[in-house]
Amino acid sequence: MVYAVVPAAGKGERFGGDIPKQYLTLNGRSVLEHTLSRLAAHRNIAQVVVAIAADDVRFEALAGHLSSNIVTVYGGDERCHSVLAGLKWLGENTPASTWVMVHDAARPCLRASDIDRMIAAVTDGEVGAILGVPVRDTLKRSDKGNYIADTLDRTAIWRALTPQLFQRGALQNAIESALNAGVIVTDEAQAMERRGLRPKLVHGHGDNIKITHREDLELAELIMQAQDRAPEGTDQ
Ligand code: CTP
Ligand code: MG
Repeated sequence: MVYAVVPAAGKGERFGGDIPKQYLTLNGRSVLEHTLSRLAAHRNIAQVVVAIAADDVRFEALAGHLSSNIVTVYGGDERCHSVLAGLKWLGENTPASTWVMVHDAARPCLRASDIDRMIAAVTDGEVGAILGVPVRDTLKRSDKGNYIADTLDRTAIWRALTPQLFQRGALQNAIESALNAGVIVTDEAQAMERRGLRPKLVHGHGDNIKITHREDLELAELIMQAQDRAPEGTDQ
């Protein structure tokens, strides 16, 4: 069994508006409820630790609808602080070798099959794995005036998604070491890479989008409707 940590303490500044994006409604339920229920319902996930903001006033209203294997902690100023809070809770309740899947609250379209593939990827002595998607578009570097400076070689370039799966103790040490060095890592793999470790990239589905800007909410709604029409197993 693996555990999950869900950072959900962000303010959604790029998205804007009064309500943080994880509390907006998507096909009848909040983004956060979708994300948590997909993780909590997975047969290989024992428990989900969700990190909410210290001044969160919305989570309590959801709590009654959620499965009993979800616990909350308070997150921090940056995503990595929120992840760390979840890992610390697990540190009091699980061994250091426990596998922990970190998944953004803002990615509600995660498929169970992607969770399965990640878990399958870390069996034989791997340090860990993340979901990713190879870049498909041609990449341009711009100069300051948005003129093209050059074309990048996109071979071997991936977009990093979540979940990201590591052993609790190793990940906690890596994030703490980054913070001690004044480095704010934007994903878990980056913390492990700083220690010279080589997490594995696992092919994920591109529909596991992160709701970042306004238009992404509608896109996520369409993705979920399509997923409901073509249940897993029929799209592989
Ligand atoms: N997150 C968090 N704690 C923070 C910042 C972010 O738990 N201090 C969470 C967000 O709630 C989100 C995930 O990390 O589920 C990915 O972050 P992002 O998409 O950047 O969300 P926000 O930080 O809320 O958005 P923005 O960067 O636009 O402010
Ligand atoms: Mg952010």
